[in-house]
Amino acid sequence: MNSNDKNIRWHEAQVSRSDRNRQNGHGSVILWFTGLSGAGKSTVAHAVEKRLFDLGCKTFVFDGDNVRHGLCADLGFSAEDRTENIRRIGEMAKLFIEAGVIALTAFISPFRSDRDRVRVLAGEGNFLEIYCQCPLDVCEGRDVKGLYAKARQGLIKEFTGISSPYEAPEAPELTINTNLQTLDACVDQVLALLRQRKIIP
Ligand code: PPS
Ligand code: ADP
Repeated sequence: MNSNDKNIRWHEAQVSRSDRNRQNGHGSVILWFTGLSGAGKSTVAHAVEKRLFDLGCKTFVFDGDNVRHGLCADLGFSAEDRTENIRRIGEMAKLFIEAGVIALTAFISPFRSDRDRVRVLAGEGNFLEIYCQCPLDVCEGRDVKGLYAKARQGLIKEFTGISSPYEAPEAPELTINTNLQTLDACVDQVLALLRQRKIIP
């Protein structure tokens, strides 16, 4: 069975996204953080969420490690599996914007085509790509989870930046330099983007 099956029909909700946005007092959007492991995606996404939550916004963070324990537990790190991982997250995040939520996603999402597919799926203005820029040697120096050391020893195959590619965004809505700016400054930039796009007042 697939979505083209003639026995499946879309059911219109009585409460629309704009109804929810009006009630919440803010818009909904996907904040898509991308970058190398250790670049700061999770740290910044959770700090942005905390700021937004304290402002009274409806938010949710999808985190790479957490999602891979459940929804994507069947997937590994081959190119095909990463593509499927990002496809599922994209579909899920789209549902969250329909639900009126500011959805923050923190996945390496190394392939430009995968990210662009989510951009198209979400629709114009609903997908804000945030590039967590940080040189590989700095990420490796941080080695938050000790994975770079394992990758260098050949204990982890297809590790992003070492033995698997990372394609940096060409035109992200925002680039944050986590090796040059403090966490607070990075969070301020994301909040400024949300205000500029009139997602939050
Ligand atoms: S992807 O490429 O977007 O599908 O990856 P993602 O779902 O974000 O998962 C990345 C986290 O998994 C850990 N990990 C690896 N990363 C990259 N390559 C390999 N081979 C790998 N194996 C495990 C790693 O902790 C990543 O977490 P972050 O938060 O990025 O450090
Ligand atoms: P990722 O989710 O991209 O793998 P993490 O958020 O897990 O990255 O790790 C980033 C590491 O870098 C953390 O230890 C964090 O404290 C540190 N760090 C230092 N400066 C920053 C910054 N400006 N923004 C985000 N993280 C930073």
